[in-house]
Amino acid sequence: MNEITQVTQSTPVPTPAGKAVPTLPDAQTVTQVTHWTDRLFSFRLTRPASLRFRSGEFVMIGLMGDPHPETGKQKPLLRAYSIASPSWDDELEFYSIKVPDGPLTSRLQHIQVGDEIILRPKPVGTLVHDALLPGKRLWLFATGTGFAPYASLLRDPQTYEDYDEIIVTHTCREVGELAYGAQLIEQIRNDEMLAELIGEGFADKLRYYPTTTREDSPKMGRITDLLRSGEAFEDLGVPGIAPDVDRAMICGNLAFNLELKALLEGFGLIEGANSKPQHYVVEKAFLD
Ligand SMILES: Cc1cc2nc3c(=O)[nH]c(=O)nc-3n(C[C@H](O)[C@H](O)[C@H](O)COP(=O)(O)OP(=O)(O)OC[C@H]3O[C@@H](n4cnc5c(N)ncnc54)[C@H](O)[C@@H]3O)c2cc1C
Ligand SMILES: NC(=O)c1ccc[n+]([C@@H]2O[C@H](COP(=O)([O-])OP(=O)(O)OC[C@H]3O[C@@H](n4cnc5c(N)ncnc54)[C@H](OP(=O)(O)O)[C@@H]3O)[C@@H](O)[C@H]2O)c1
Repeated sequence: MNEITQVTQSTPVPTPAGKAVPTLPDAQTVTQVTHWTDRLFSFRLTRPASLRFRSGEFVMIGLMGDPHPETGKQKPLLRAYSIASPSWDDELEFYSIKVPDGPLTSRLQHIQVGDEIILRPKPVGTLVHDALLPGKRLWLFATGTGFAPYASLLRDPQTYEDYDEIIVTHTCREVGELAYGAQLIEQIRNDEMLAELIGEGFADKLRYYPTTTREDSPKMGRITDLLRSGEAFEDLGVPGIAPDVDRAMICGNLAFNLELKALLEGFGLIEGANSKPQHYVVEKAFLD
């Protein structure tokens, strides 16, 4: 059931003159919703004028929770979400899972254009350029919705200014789960505005390495196994990963993050942070 079932709903939000008064604290308005599979969707929101963030950071977003059975009071139900749009974009984009019984996403998956979402304007996160020392090649490793922060970074001119080569790997169970990332990469390659901003040919720096683990695709297997065996390096024509050349970001499930951390440390890379830039950084795509 995870074939590409892309359905986009998009209509202009009301003009300022006819703008509805927000009824939620920190409310932003949904401007577009796209359903990619029965488990994945993306959406765009209006952006508060005061919100500044670094590409790759996350914020807390959500909806009002159900009224308390006794007091009737409602509290916001918030979750961490990577901002998938770049810092220069007028709107905010998010890429989301639909957890059938998830407190937030069982409801969030039904949002429509014009609906309101709570957005706490306090961006944070480690998947930022500032947390890495200068390098030549940037690896962006993701599983599942862990692709979201890279959707931001890959549309940020700094990514192409700072590196000679950017390799994005995305491992999902099924082919349909790669669609959001695959379409975004295609759009970036043909983006005239980015070409104007960064320079013609910028997209030649961008390498995309999608893999699936439970459905046939041109490249099967977990990226961790493909790195360990050397197959990924052979496919990409790179000699390996080394601290004097390579920088990396990791965003996926906990087991993936831990496995990849160990692999990178084995190659001699050191974990960095905002306060101490190093060779690689890591962030969970979800708690577990
Ligand atoms: C730093 C950070 C950034 C995040 N960014 C994103 C993002 O950009 N997009 C996004 O969809 N989620 C993201 N998450 C996860 C998000 O915060 C919520 O967990 C998710 O929206 C589900 O919320 P829920 O209330 O429906 O279920 P929850 O009660 O939060 O989760 C229920 C269960 O669903 C599973 N689950 C939760 N999130 C995911 C996921 N993304 N992929 C696969 N399984 C999941 C886990 O097993 C979890 O125990 C992020 C989490 C963290 C910590
Ligand atoms: N994706 C679905 O179709 C689906 C459907 C129903 C329910 N769910 C549930 O939703 C939750 C999240 O599923 P998800 O598919 O989004 O995320 P996930 O389980 O984190 O898997 C995403 C991808 O990461 C790979 N992976 C997992 N651990 C890894 C590791 N240590 N090293 C390298 N790669 C690793 C998986 O490979 P493997 O396939 O080899 O594990 C898969 O390709 C799970 O609890 C799952 O049971 C998922």
